[in-house]
Amino acid sequence: MSHNTISLNKQRQPLDHLDSVWLFGYGSLIYKTDFDYLDAKPACIYGWQRRFWQGSHDHRGTPEAPGRVLTLIEAAGARCVGMAYQVTPDTFEYLDHREKNGYLRVFTPLHWLNDSDNSGQGETEGVVYLASADNEAYLGPASDAEIAAHIARSRGPSGPNSEYLLKLAQALRDMNEQDEHVFAIERELLRLLVRK
Ligand code: SIN
Repeated sequence: MSHNTISLNKQRQPLDHLDSVWLFGYGSLIYKTDFDYLDAKPACIYGWQRRFWQGSHDHRGTPEAPGRVLTLIEAAGARCVGMAYQVTPDTFEYLDHREKNGYLRVFTPLHWLNDSDNSGQGETEGVVYLASADNEAYLGPASDAEIAAHIARSRGPSGPNSEYLLKLAQALRDMNEQDEHVFAIERELLRLLVRK
């Protein structure tokens, strides 16, 4: 599959017939909200975990030296916490461009973290951007130390790859969310940055 997914997403999943769509963000979409939204709420999805296994040619690296960013990997019993945004379908013009490096939109059940309005509607359907193992930019597993070293040396048009990791880790901490994969790589990265 080509790693530019803009037209694929449009063809596979037209959304224009809907008034609004919930988008679930688990990576940069948690902390970098440079798009309009109607509402935002913490949410989680079950059966998926965050992994720094996707290459970034366009944001945190280059085609010659891709950075490492997140995708979701299926894992029985896992729970991934993130932010859900209610957006109008035209927002996907921008989002598909931003997430074009191998990510396909899929619908998945979303569960609200704080159902404080007691609406009794603890879940809805939402869209998540998923970069599966068959996209050309996929890098796959590596040790925490290898991933941290890769992140430490990478940079792209959106800035240093380390910023992606550090901002995400802080955003998860702000949400009281423990993500061992993210925090272990952050510890390794901070060790490397201190040594520099
Ligand atoms: C996401 O944040 O939900 C997708 C991956 C990314 O843009 O970091």
